[in-house]
Amino acid sequence: MDEQRKIVVTSALPYANGDIHLGHLVEYIQTDIWVRFQKLRGHDCVYVCADDTHGTPIMIRARREGISPEELVEHTHAIHLKDFTDFQIAFDNYYSTNSPENRQLSELFYEAMKKSGGITRKTTPQLYCEHCQMFLPDRFVKGICPKCGAEGQYGDSCDRCGATYAAEELGAPICTTCGGTPVVRDSEHLYFELEPQHDYLEKWIPAHTTSDVSNKLLEWFKEPLRGWCISRSAPYFGFEIPGDPDKYFYVWVDAPIGYLASLANWCAAHGKSFDDYWQNPKAERYHFIGKDIIRFHCLFWPGMLHTAGFAQPDKIFVHGFLTVNGEKMSKSKGTFINARTYLDNLPPEALRYYYAAKLGGSTDDMDLNLTDFVQRVNSDLVGKITNIASRGAQMLQKKLSGRLGALDAEGAELVAECRAAAETIAGFYEERRFNMAVVEICRLADAVNAYFDRKEPWKTVKTDSEATRVTLTAALNAFRILAIYLQPVLPVYAEKAMKLFGETSWTWKSIATTLENRSLGDYEYLASRIDVGQVEAMVAAATVKPADSGEVQHESRASKNKAKSAAVAVAAPGIKGEIAFADFEKIDLRVGLVKSCEIVPKSAKLLKFVIDAGALGERTIFSGIRAAYPDPSALVGKEVVFVANLAPRKMSVGVSEGMILYAGEPGSGGGVVSPMALAGAGIPVC
Ligand code: MSP
Ligand code: ZN
Repeated sequence: MDEQRKIVVTSALPYANGDIHLGHLVEYIQTDIWVRFQKLRGHDCVYVCADDTHGTPIMIRARREGISPEELVEHTHAIHLKDFTDFQIAFDNYYSTNSPENRQLSELFYEAMKKSGGITRKTTPQLYCEHCQMFLPDRFVKGICPKCGAEGQYGDSCDRCGATYAAEELGAPICTTCGGTPVVRDSEHLYFELEPQHDYLEKWIPAHTTSDVSNKLLEWFKEPLRGWCISRSAPYFGFEIPGDPDKYFYVWVDAPIGYLASLANWCAAHGKSFDDYWQNPKAERYHFIGKDIIRFHCLFWPGMLHTAGFAQPDKIFVHGFLTVNGEKMSKSKGTFINARTYLDNLPPEALRYYYAAKLGGSTDDMDLNLTDFVQRVNSDLVGKITNIASRGAQMLQKKLSGRLGALDAEGAELVAECRAAAETIAGFYEERRFNMAVVEICRLADAVNAYFDRKEPWKTVKTDSEATRVTLTAALNAFRILAIYLQPVLPVYAEKAMKLFGETSWTWKSIATTLENRSLGDYEYLASRIDVGQVEAMVAAATVKPADSGEVQHESRASKNKAKSAAVAVAAPGIKGEIAFADFEKIDLRVGLVKSCEIVPKSAKLLKFVIDAGALGERTIFSGIRAAYPDPSALVGKEVVFVANLAPRKMSVGVSEGMILYAGEPGSGGGVVSPMALAGAGIPVC
C-alpha cells in the first residue's frame, strides 16, 4: 500500500430550504463510501459539507413561515444532519454557509477579485415585483417563452424548446410567489469577469474533469467568456457586499467558499492547519457533485480560487441524476421519496447496498427500480453474503460451542481466493466503480456458498464435529474478508460483524489476518430480507395527490377526516368544509396600520384601505365591509389583521393586495379583527 495520503473530500452543500431526498442520497452515499474506503486504507481523509443557507427561496420560505431565515436554517440543519446520520453518512464536519468563517472568506475572495480587476459593474433591466418588493430570480417568474411561445416557462430557459433567455424577455410574466405582474426595473450589479482567465480555464477544465463534462464546457470557450453576475439586491438572505450597501453576494458565490469554511472550522476544532490540507501541494482535494451544477464547480469556482490564490481541487467527480422506475422522480407517483419517508419504512443498509451496486462513477443517470431493489437486496446482500455468516456462526455456536478451529488446505485455498481480490476491489473503490466492487464481492460469496454446500456441514455436524469446525472456520474467515470489503458500503453491518469476531476495528490490512482457535462473539443479526409491502408503504406515504383532485395534500389524516368534515357541514350550515393544518399554514397573517380608508365611489359595498405593512411596505386592499363603517375614517390609525400572501386580485376599481380579516356579517354587529395589544406593523400573527 502507498504512503498515507491527505485527502479533502466534499459533497455539494444541500439547500437549506428543502428535505433530503433519495436523489440527494445518490451523492452523499456515494461520497461517504469513497471516504470510508480511504479511511479504511489508512489515509488521512476529511469529509466536509454544510447546509447551503442563502438565497431567495430560503428568504421567502422563512417569510411564509413567519420566522427569521436564521431560525429556518438552524432548524433545517438539525433535520438534515439527522437524515444523514441515520443513513450512516459520516461527515467529519457538517457546517453552515451562514457562518463567520464563511463571511470572512467570502470577503477575502471578493477583495482578491476586486484587486485583480475582475469585478465590473453594469446596470441591467430586471423584473421586480412591487407586491413582494423584490427583484425576481429567474426561477421566481413564469411566462411565455419568447422563442416558441410555450406557456408557464421559467425566467431562464424553456422546458419545451430548450431556449435560454433573460427573464425580461418572457411574454406575460407573473411572479410565482404572489401571482402579480412584475415590472422592469434597472438595477446595478457586480460581475466577475472570466475572460481574463480564458486560457487558464481552457487548460484547467479538461485536466480536472472527465471528457464528457469538459467537452460540454469547452463549447463556451469558442467565444469570449461572459461575466458572471455575483450580486443580488436587497431584500436577500446572504452576506452584504462590503462597500455596496443593499447588495449581497449571490448564493453561488459563498456556497463553494462554504467548502473551505467548513474545512477551516474543522481544522480549528481539531488543532489542524487549514493550509496543510487545502494549500498543501501534497494533499488532494475532491468535489463530488451532480451534473446540474457543473458550471459552478468547473468554471466559476476554479476562476475564483485561481484569482484568490487558493489551491484548486484535484478532480471534480460528477454523477448523474436519480430516476425511479425509469422515470424522473414524481410526487404524484410517490417516487419523490424523502430520506425520512424511506427510513420510516426500510433499513438504510438496503439503499446503501443498492446504490453501491449501481454506481459506476460515470455521469449517466442511475435508476432505482423498486422491484429490482427488493430482489437484489434479498438475493445478494441477504441470501448470498449474509447467509454465510448466519448459517455458519449459528451452527458453530449451537453445535460446536462457538469455537473456531484451524484451516485445512481446502479452507486455506478458499480464504486465499477471497484475499486475492483485495487489490482489484480496492482499485474499483478508488475509481468509484462501486458496482464492480459489489460484483466482485458477490462472485466471492458465490464461491464461499459453493464450498459450504459442497462440504454439507449440516450433515457432517452429526457425524464429525471437528471436520465441521474446519469447514465453518473457512466459511467464516472468508465471510470476514467480505465484510471488510463491504465496510465502506455497510459500516454498521461491518461493525456488527467485527463484534462477532471479537474485534474492535478493521483496516484494509485486517484482510491478511486469519482467525483460528478462538471463540466467536454472539451472533447479532446483520441484515434482514425486505418486503415488497415495505416499499409499497413507502410509496404510498410519498404519494401526493394532485391539488385539483379535491383532496388535501400530504396529510394522511385528511382522508380519515373527510367523512367527519362532511358531517360537520351538514350539522352546522355556514361552516365551510374542513381544511387540513397544512392548508391553514399557508396563510400568512400580518398586522397592518390603516393609513387611509375611503368609500369607493359607485360601489355600495367597498372600502379602499391603504395599509402600512411595515417591512412589506404599503398595501392597497379593497374590502366589502362598508355597511359596518358608515364613517370609514374612524378606522384610520387602527391596526387590522390581513392576509399578506393572497394573490393580488384585479377588480374594476383597482388591484387588491390582500384581505382584511373581519368577523361577523357586515352591518349586523361585526367588525374588523383587531390585534389590539400586538405592536408594530407587518409583524406575523401566530
Ligand atoms: N446548494 C447547491 C450546491 C452548492 S455546492 C457549493 C445545490 N443543492 S441541492 O440540494 O439542489 O443539491 C445538492 C446535490 O444533490 C447536488 O450535487 C445535486 O446534483 C444532487 N442532487 C439533487 N437531486 C438529485 C437527483 N435527483 N439525483 C442525483 N443527484 C441529485 O445544488
Ligand atoms: Zn410577487
